[in-house]
Amino acid sequence: MTTLLAVRGLSKSFGALHVTQDVSFDVLQGEILGVIGPNGAGKTTLFGLLAGNITPSAGTVAFAGEDITAAPAHERARRGLARTFQVPRPFGHMTVFENLKVAARFGGNLAEDEANAWVERVLAMTGMQGQSEQLAGRLPLLMRKRHELARALAMKPRLMLVDEVAAGLTDQEVNQFIALVQAIRKSGVTVIWVEHVMKTMLTATDRLLALHSGRVLALGRPQEVFNHPDVRRVYLGA
Ligand SMILES: Nc1ncnc2c1ncn2[C@@H]1O[C@H](COP(=O)(O)OP(=O)(O)O)[C@@H](O)[C@H]1O
Ligand SMILES: [Mg+2]
Repeated sequence: MTTLLAVRGLSKSFGALHVTQDVSFDVLQGEILGVIGPNGAGKTTLFGLLAGNITPSAGTVAFAGEDITAAPAHERARRGLARTFQVPRPFGHMTVFENLKVAARFGGNLAEDEANAWVERVLAMTGMQGQSEQLAGRLPLLMRKRHELARALAMKPRLMLVDEVAAGLTDQEVNQFIALVQAIRKSGVTVIWVEHVMKTMLTATDRLLALHSGRVLALGRPQEVFNHPDVRRVYLGA
C-alpha cells in the first residue's frame, strides 16, 4: 500500500485552546478513511490544517511524498488536494456550471475545453445535470451538498476531504451519498470522510480514525475502532 498523505505530530492551538494535539497518521492511496469524533473533537480543524486553510502550530504534512506544510491552500488544490466545507461556500450569484468550471479551471488547472468536458462528467456523476443553469445560491439543501461535493470533484483531486455531507439528510439521501463517495473513490480518488452518522462510517469506509479533544483515540478497521474501549467511553460515557 502506498502512502498518499503522511501527517506527523500535527498540532494547532488557538490561544490556550489545544484543538489539534500531536496528530499522526497515514492515508493510503485509494482508501476511504473515515474520521469520527464528538462535536468539537477537531475534525474540521484537521481538514483546515490538511487543506492549508489553517497554519499548524507544529508538525508536518506530506502529500505524494512532498512536504506541503508551508504550501498555501490554492497550491495544495493544484497538487490534487481538494476539500468540501461543512458550511458550503459556493459563489451564490453564479450558476452551478460556472461554479464547477471555476473549480476545474483554477483548482484542477484544466484548459477551457477540458474543463467543459470534465464539468459535464462531474454533473453526471453527482446527479446534478438538471441543476446546471441554476444559481448555486438558490439550491435546496440536498443539492447544495451535492454541489459542494461536485465542486471538490471538479478540481480533479487525488485526495478529497469530505466534511459532513450527510448531516441532516434522510436515510435514502445518505445512501445516495455513500454510493456517490464510493463511485468517486472507484474513479481513483482517495477520500478522507468526516461524518457523524456512525452507520455511514461503519459501512462506507475502509479504515476509521477516531479523534477526541484533538488527539487520535484509535485508528484501524471500522469495526475495531467502533468497539475500541476508549471510543466507546467517549461516545457512550461508559
Ligand atoms: N478559529 C478558531 N478559534 C478558536 N477556537 C476554534 C476555532 N476553530 C475551532 N475552534 C475550536 O476548536 C474545537 C474544534 O473545532 P472543530 O474542528 O470545528 O471540531 P469538529 O469539526 O470536530 O466539531 C472547538 O472547541 C472549537 O470551538
Ligand atoms: Mg466539524
